[in-house]
Amino acid sequence: MQTQLSFANLAAIETELLAVLAIDTQTAKGQDAKPQPVLLTSDDKVRAAAAAVLSSGEYKAGSNETVLLHAPAGLSAKRLLIVGLGKKAKASVHAVRNAAGTAVRYCKPRAIRELVLALPENYSEGPLHAVACARAAMEGALVGDFDADTYRSERKDVSVHSFTLAAPDTDQSAIQTAFNEGVIIGESQNFARTLVNEPGNKLTPTVLGQRAAQMASETGLKAEVFSTDKLHELKMGAFWSVSQGSEEPPALIVMKYEPEGVTDGPVLGLVGKGITFDTGGISIKPADNMEKMKYDMAGGAAMIGAMRAIALLKPRVRVIGIVCAAENMPDGKAQKPGDVQTAMSGKTIEIINTDAEGRLVLADGITYARSLGATHLIDAATLTGACVVALGMINGGAFSNDDTTIEKFQAALSTSGEKFWRLPLSDEYYDMIRSDIGDIKNTGGRWGGAITAAEFLHAFAEDTPWIHLDIAGLAWIEDNKPFIAKGPSGVAVRSILGWVRSYAS
Ligand code: BES
Ligand code: MN
Ligand code: ZN
Repeated sequence: MQTQLSFANLAAIETELLAVLAIDTQTAKGQDAKPQPVLLTSDDKVRAAAAAVLSSGEYKAGSNETVLLHAPAGLSAKRLLIVGLGKKAKASVHAVRNAAGTAVRYCKPRAIRELVLALPENYSEGPLHAVACARAAMEGALVGDFDADTYRSERKDVSVHSFTLAAPDTDQSAIQTAFNEGVIIGESQNFARTLVNEPGNKLTPTVLGQRAAQMASETGLKAEVFSTDKLHELKMGAFWSVSQGSEEPPALIVMKYEPEGVTDGPVLGLVGKGITFDTGGISIKPADNMEKMKYDMAGGAAMIGAMRAIALLKPRVRVIGIVCAAENMPDGKAQKPGDVQTAMSGKTIEIINTDAEGRLVLADGITYARSLGATHLIDAATLTGACVVALGMINGGAFSNDDTTIEKFQAALSTSGEKFWRLPLSDEYYDMIRSDIGDIKNTGGRWGGAITAAEFLHAFAEDTPWIHLDIAGLAWIEDNKPFIAKGPSGVAVRSILGWVRSYAS
């Protein structure tokens, strides 16, 4: 999708479709409270064209609610699409992000290949700041453009070729910067989604490594992809134990972003779980829904997507991205429950359940990031079903050993619009994963399963300020929404990027 920014007069823009946003300003409740939709533009001609439908009572400007007018009087556009943000009190930058996605997804099945979205304006009382909206709108438009059916042999061409953001003629340079950022971030999130969407037979650990390396060479990151020998050399016994049951070799993907002239300050370590397929191993999973386990590398993909955005946005802080990629398979050589593995850190791990493999690869990824000099860590993983039980598919789980570090992440959420809920850590949970034969077991039983998994990682992060994101419930979207297709979500790219940027000098 081509993207442009325009400061032209709305009524004069020639386009297949002009999309404008609306809010419902009705504050009264009850039966007589008719919706009072108001357009978020000051353009008199656009307002006149929309006046009849807005006063009809047929259209409420509910969130992502649309109404289409053909041949709108007085406009050069062929169609006028109104997209609702919902009640005025709830209209936010995040609603604008979704509305942009809704506008794009409205066009796709209708073979409308080109559209213009008018940024909200004339709304000084509200929280809809033009600069923040410009960025969010570009993120939302690009995210909306993505569809998952890449292997359909007669795939219908529903692509949108051109998206133009029409902005009010104020603050031009700040809006231009926000526009550019939004494009980079939206494309990086889609890059992560493309990786997550690939099935396990197409995207092996080796192929994931190649994709990351190719991205790195295109964006100027340093990248190295290691395999079996390096795991043995580094004594990554936990990572290797997952990989040993597969014919596919593991990939230890290392991406480095080193901005010129930045030689001190923090080094951020991004560590992603890259299980390209999780059968459960010898503790094999039931067949139902097992096909979903191709998305068990979504944490790794989020890190690769975030590294792409970092390379292009160039914050002044050093970042190391590590993805521990392997396939978790049952086999004659696979590890067994009861096996004891020695992690890179020297800790011994009793394997209780080979399906708790994510924490094993991450344990060594975290130790390796620390050995490379990371001063602050963030990991992302589709780690536990227990996290989905706790938080559903609405919030991801967030854990941290350091309040300041996670507060920076929480601040980033207010920009990204993503939802993560902090869950606790404490020694009592750690006690649940003490081993009788060695140092630590890889599961702590049913109760508090997301937390004991996090405590397992904590044992490898130790005192290094660290955040763990459990994205098991968010990485795959089960149903189509007006603004995003079902399938891989690309969750966490935007928030991790925001956290990284908060450390820039
Ligand atoms: N990849 C799964 C977690 C998962 C579950 C991700 C559902 C997405 C959706 C992980 O490797 C796993 O199998 N976890 C086990 C841990 C258990 C054996 C302690 C789980 O959650 O059941
Ligand atoms: Mn598993
Ligand atoms: Zn897994």
